[in-house]
Amino acid sequence: MKDDLNFHIITALEMPNFYERSIAFFEQAWSGVFPHDFDGDKDSFALYQVYPEYRYALIETATQQMIALGNCVPVVWEGNFERLPDEGVTWAMTQALADHSQGNQPNILCALAITVIPEYRGRQISSFMLQQMKKIAQDRKLASLIVPARPTLKHLYPLTPMERYITWQNEHGLPFDPWLRTHIRNGANLVRICPKSASIIDTISNWEARVNMRFPETGDYIIPGGLLPLKIDYTNNQGSYIEPNVWMYYNLA
Ligand SMILES: CC(C)(COP(=O)(O)OP(=O)(O)OC[C@H]1O[C@@H](n2cnc3c(N)ncnc32)[C@H](O)[C@@H]1OP(=O)(O)O)[C@@H](O)C(=O)NCCC(=O)NCCS
Repeated sequence: MKDDLNFHIITALEMPNFYERSIAFFEQAWSGVFPHDFDGDKDSFALYQVYPEYRYALIETATQQMIALGNCVPVVWEGNFERLPDEGVTWAMTQALADHSQGNQPNILCALAITVIPEYRGRQISSFMLQQMKKIAQDRKLASLIVPARPTLKHLYPLTPMERYITWQNEHGLPFDPWLRTHIRNGANLVRICPKSASIIDTISNWEARVNMRFPETGDYIIPGGLLPLKIDYTNNQGSYIEPNVWMYYNLA
């Protein structure tokens, strides 16, 4: 991160209108549907209410502008990390709420998202936000950080299976994808694909409105920002988008 930024970190606990500001932030930082419109995202507000200390923002002090957001949740995971669930981010959100309501003691931290506004990208702010996330885990004696990572350039290759995409490398032998590469450089191990991390199942007309396209017949369609094609099925009046992400694992012990 460049040192010309006069910034500070603030958590949702310390900023009363954090949620409203983060909604406005997402509208500015994410173009299009993905990924905040997936079905599991319905739990987002409930998680914000029970775990405000796990949401944090990088604020530019002079302007008070939110320039990056980090979002994570504590969960219970007793299994082998090689067996992290297929449902990735959706699992993490459901599990965190269930653990909270059942009074279970979380033992790991799961990232939900790190987002930087477009004009501040390419300054390694995401690595700074990742360091901050690790600190949240360590302060709470959580021994690991897991991340259902959404590769940032995969949407340009929607026809390539994720299994192939994650094997692509740059000239330095690091992952081709910049976001996977950033995790590896920050000490993560790539564990496995979570094939059903973020799903959107909806009627065909709702899909047409969502992506501003027409789907005249049953088939697969490339959609803006999608990591793989949308499946349209006229027999069931249904469009299914089931997004794979990639489990990354940081040992913080
Ligand atoms: C992913 C994201 C958080 C990275 O933040 P960042 O602060 O730009 O990260 P960095 O400056 O450390 O850059 C990380 C890598 O991405 C590359 N990168 C940054 N912006 C890029 C862009 N627009 N296109 C392609 N690569 C880009 C950088 O070159 C760097 O790779 P390298 O140094 O190995 O070449 C940011 O791009 C973002 O907010 N994207 C939208 C939200 C998202 O996809 N979040 C991740 C899933 S939750």
